[in-house]
Amino acid sequence: MKQSIIINGKEHEIDVDGDMPLLWFLRDRLEFTGTKFGCGSGLCGACTVHVNGQAIRSCVTPVSSLVDQKITTIEGLSENGDHPLQQAWLNNNVPQCGYCQAGQIMNAASLLAVNAAPTDDEIDTAMQGNICRCGTYQRIKKAISEAADTLAKEA
Ligand code: FES
Ligand code: FES
Repeated sequence: MKQSIIINGKEHEIDVDGDMPLLWFLRDRLEFTGTKFGCGSGLCGACTVHVNGQAIRSCVTPVSSLVDQKITTIEGLSENGDHPLQQAWLNNNVPQCGYCQAGQIMNAASLLAVNAAPTDDEIDTAMQGNICRCGTYQRIKKAISEAADTLAKEA
């Protein structure tokens, strides 16, 4: 029986070994390369995507565990790259090399979905598993606060 998975609103057949990590399926099979491979062990957050709105590490999540689940990658976070977080990232020139940033934004988006006005401590706690080798942490925190303010004004 065919099994499928919904990625950024579109259904895709799972036509690979079910043990394949979601990250491989996204990048190698479907060419959603915005999601990055960092550690491959669930330790850095570069591969963060959403499953039904919750942040998960796609490098350690077998695709077979996600049948009929709704996945959102950085490509699907907003239609035109204009999610308040993406705008705040631009306003604050957050990225340096950029490698970790899709994972940072996806993790931040899942934080703001459940906590629209996080304190600095809550941001630190939520984001502590997302590593940035370039040390952009202060700009990340500022951008998340700015995005939260934007969302509050839009509400
Ligand atoms: S690549 Fe998945 S947590 Fe590092
Ligand atoms: S911007 Fe380079 S690793 Fe985060």
